[in-house]
Amino acid sequence: MNRPSVAFYDTKPYDREWFDRIPAPFDIHYFESKLTPDTAPLAEGCSAVCAFVNDDISAAAVDALASHGVGAIAMRCAGYSNVDFRAAYGKLHILRVPAYSPHAVAEHAMALLLSLNRKIPRAANRTRDFNYSLVGLCGMVLNGKTAGVIGTGRIGRCFIDICRGFGMRVVAYDPYPAEGGGIEYLPLDELLSQADVISLHCPLTEGTRHIISRDALSKVKPGVFIINTSRGELIDTEALIEALDAGVVGGAGLDVYEEEADLFFEDFSGQILLDDTLALLTSKPNVLITAHQAFLTEEALEAIARVTVENLRAYFNGEPLQNEVCYHCGGGECRKKQNGRCF
Ligand code: NAI
Repeated sequence: MNRPSVAFYDTKPYDREWFDRIPAPFDIHYFESKLTPDTAPLAEGCSAVCAFVNDDISAAAVDALASHGVGAIAMRCAGYSNVDFRAAYGKLHILRVPAYSPHAVAEHAMALLLSLNRKIPRAANRTRDFNYSLVGLCGMVLNGKTAGVIGTGRIGRCFIDICRGFGMRVVAYDPYPAEGGGIEYLPLDELLSQADVISLHCPLTEGTRHIISRDALSKVKPGVFIINTSRGELIDTEALIEALDAGVVGGAGLDVYEEEADLFFEDFSGQILLDDTLALLTSKPNVLITAHQAFLTEEALEAIARVTVENLRAYFNGEPLQNEVCYHCGGGECRKKQNGRCF
């Protein structure tokens, strides 16, 4: 019997390294191109594709893939805000890796906070230049300060444990509070007004887009640090820039950015950055940006490769798809009644 083929879009050397280590019951065709309606024909002859966070999985891409005989998209990530689920339903099974290392992301959120607060990048740049001045490098002690955690799922709860280890008081907002764990939940407005540090760990949905809006920023404690390792569109970037300029926000640590799709994961050094908003953010001494690398650990890459291969193996074998998601799943209507599949 012929082995099925899978087109892997938007792959980097570190992806290939980990997928090449795992025996897969299908052939892999790696492509550097992102998945878009225009690149969908690259999947000709493949029964499934594998995609990533910034691929364009709009209705046009879904239809193009389906017309080439593709029956499933295996996302190499947990988030799926870039997928048009309505368009995909009944045509493409959408598989994902629900959790690959919540610790990796939570630890990166704390790394951003510590680096921002203690001005580590500026300090390191100075000492490389034999400049040992401390002027302008003063931070604050985190012990005793209040961390406001928005979203207390897997990553949010890891971040809470880390904050508690630093002796911080933790308050949280989540419409679906976690049971146990002794988390103090507050209404969002109260969290905004009490927190010295706000860290975002909720998914991007219609309800969370711009959860950090101009209105929300008018309620924060002056000097608050905002950390975002979730999705760029959770923050209204223009409003954040205004709040940074006004000194209302003391600093921002961003691993994600609203308009990151055409920029992050690529090397533009030596070129003029055409995104003026990102250039402005980057120029601010109290903003620290990393390019969606919070997950980037050996443990997460191994887990992503292992679970993705398992998701695709189950799909090709006609088995139930534990990690399938569809637009009915979110509303609780989908019970995966079709042999453990969403349709
Ligand atoms: P999860 O599904 O375990 O937890 C998400 C939590 O957010 C849930 O408790 C949910 O009830 C809560 N939530 C939903 N709507 C909310 C709202 N309106 N306000 C506050 N909370 C709300 O997800 P997990 O694994 O903790 O991941 C969180 C997010 O982290 C993902 O959606 C993804 O966007 C991001 N992520 C970023 C990575 C990176 O490398 N930067 C890597 C992996 C995930």
